[in-house]
Amino acid sequence: MAVAPEQQLQEVSRKFQIYGQILHAETCKIGHINETYTATYDQGGTRVRYVHQKINRTVFRDPPAVMDNLQRVTRHLRAKLEAGPGADLTRRCLTLIPTRDGQPFYQDADGEHWRTFVFIEGVRTFEAAQTPDQAFEAGRAFGEFQGLLADLPGARLKETIPHFHHTRKRYEAFLSAVQEDRLNRAAQAREEIAWARRHEALADVLIDAQAAGKIPERVTHNDTKFNNVLLDSTSGKALCVVDLDTVMPGLALYDFGDMVRTTTSPTVEDELDLRKVRLHVPMFEALARGYLSSAGQFLTPAEKDFIVFSGKLITYTIGLRFLTDFLLGDVYFRVHRPGHNLDRCRTQFKLIDSIEEQESALVKLVRQIDGVGPRTRRPVSKRARKK
Ligand SMILES: Nc1ncnc2c1ncn2[C@@H]1O[C@H](COP(=O)(O)OP(=O)(O)O)[C@@H](O)[C@H]1O
Ligand SMILES: [Mg+2]
Repeated sequence: MAVAPEQQLQEVSRKFQIYGQILHAETCKIGHINETYTATYDQGGTRVRYVHQKINRTVFRDPPAVMDNLQRVTRHLRAKLEAGPGADLTRRCLTLIPTRDGQPFYQDADGEHWRTFVFIEGVRTFEAAQTPDQAFEAGRAFGEFQGLLADLPGARLKETIPHFHHTRKRYEAFLSAVQEDRLNRAAQAREEIAWARRHEALADVLIDAQAAGKIPERVTHNDTKFNNVLLDSTSGKALCVVDLDTVMPGLALYDFGDMVRTTTSPTVEDELDLRKVRLHVPMFEALARGYLSSAGQFLTPAEKDFIVFSGKLITYTIGLRFLTDFLLGDVYFRVHRPGHNLDRCRTQFKLIDSIEEQESALVKLVRQIDGVGPRTRRPVSKRARKK
């Protein structure tokens, strides 16, 4: 018989500094990496909610390192927000609840790592941005996040997934999968393999620029999907960035590039009608405006020059990974139909074609947004201005 989540969480619930009694819990359907529960407690007659999360050990091999980064990052964000103006502190960054013996996580008898956050109330999350306003909010939120962490003190954060965005290594893995062709699938993907080879030069551009000291390493989020931004349910404005497991040293452009990949085409990742897959300029423009409204101050001119390129690069990297996984027999990304990973690869490569077709106009657009400076922010509404 299936055990209700609150039953499963009884033990976990007693390990953290929560001054209440668990009433019930639900699994959170958004997010596919960790196991996330929303738990309601009775605390002195008031209902309060917490998030209990079990860290995915297959993806994160070193959970204590993940938690160490997370603690440093959330403390810093909190201190920065406290020093600034404005209220709503516990809705604007994640608050980690320590265990009763002061640890950032609890390890159960099976060796699983559990952590607990204050549940942020009055928010909504969406799997994908639907409107330019939402794209703007996504860009703004992740730009602000990078900005707040720019002066994180102490040692370099740990790399929770080594070589996460290293396109050259992904390319090498792709080549060896083609060579091995263990399932005789290469023939089905002949066109995509040729496409990937033709675009090989994309792989080294940012790695080389970083090695040459042209673009700096920063503290970055590395999983900038829209469902990792909590939006205020009343105003629709981005409140808080979550999913901090991959926050580590990286390039600011990787964060922006993944936003371009996941936000600018009005289609799903496994769309079969490739004619529909394209970079939709109003979404890109809103994303870039949002991002530059918060990151425009600290990004260097060299970083800004790669803004459009970063969309191609990250899309290429993920496309390569889908293609490699197709050739290897779908061992990493879960598939729901034959050829699913090849379909996903095709949408990625199609999006890059679309970016390339519009590239010079997009580059111009970014320069224009950046050049306008403070006016890149959306106009203040009439009502707000009167106040
Ligand atoms: N503190 C929180 N308050 C409210 N909702 C949260 C909180 N933390 C996570 N969530 C919700 O749970 C979802 C999954 O959490 P996330 O940390 O992103 O896990 P995953 O790594 O599996 O994507 C988020 O997209 C968000 O909707
Ligand atoms: Mg998530």
